[in-house]
Amino acid sequence: MTAPAFPLSRALVPAFEWLDEAGSTNDELVARSADIQKWPDLSVLVTDNQTNGRGRLGRTWVAPAGKTLAISVLLRPRTAAGEPLGPDALGWLPLLAGLAMTRAVRSLGVDATLKWPNDVLAADASPRPGKLCGVLSELLPDGAGVVIGAGLNLTITEDELPAETASSLSLAGVAAPDPDATLAAYLRELTELYRAPLEADGDPARSGLRDAVVSACGTLGRVVRVELPSGETLTGTATDIDETGRLVVESGSGTVAVAAGDVTHLRH
Ligand code: BTN
Repeated sequence: MTAPAFPLSRALVPAFEWLDEAGSTNDELVARSADIQKWPDLSVLVTDNQTNGRGRLGRTWVAPAGKTLAISVLLRPRTAAGEPLGPDALGWLPLLAGLAMTRAVRSLGVDATLKWPNDVLAADASPRPGKLCGVLSELLPDGAGVVIGAGLNLTITEDELPAETASSLSLAGVAAPDPDATLAAYLRELTELYRAPLEADGDPARSGLRDAVVSACGTLGRVVRVELPSGETLTGTATDIDETGRLVVESGSGTVAVAAGDVTHLRH
């Protein structure tokens, strides 16, 4: 793609830049974030050729050039009174982003579900079930906000998929996903969902964000295997998302609230 205009997406945010190539759009946006005038809240950086993408839990994010979008959004959330949000409220922003992408993908006609904490999956009944999008949220150096990175698989074909568990919008049934319309759907959902927690001083329950994430989250009610950052594995039924965004898992040995980990859906 050569510097496309992205008119629908540009119209939704205060700053928007397309990069023909980037190592990691998250790194690029964190580097730009020091210039607050030029890169305010809800600034966006995008490429379809990310060469050194990073994933959650220290992994790499691999994406063939021209077939995915790497999207980074800068969020500097402030309450209605102008106060920065605290760390607990910032912790909900990656879940909010996963929910926004789930809704955007559903608006294209894909039966999509949110896998805790923020993967977007084409559901089991779709033509090619699997991961369509992953989200990586990183704190700004000044701690007053985050960069939310989303890698969205648009037109990756079966033999180009980076993992057995991956999918793409075209494999999931969207004949020719339009990059601008798809990105605009995400930004529209994100900006809409972002407003309520700010008005509620970042409180995910009072703003309705927690309920909205719970209702889109296909992990709840399923038997899951969670690989914890410690290397331990937990198997049990995912029953809830608590007030700090942790996944509540009930297993034979009790109830555990998981803050970070890699979840596999086993069965209903
Ligand atoms: C994951 O599922 O592990 C998260 C993947 C996040 C990838 C996105 S692409 C845009 C942004 N830039 C990065 O380097 N990573 C994120």
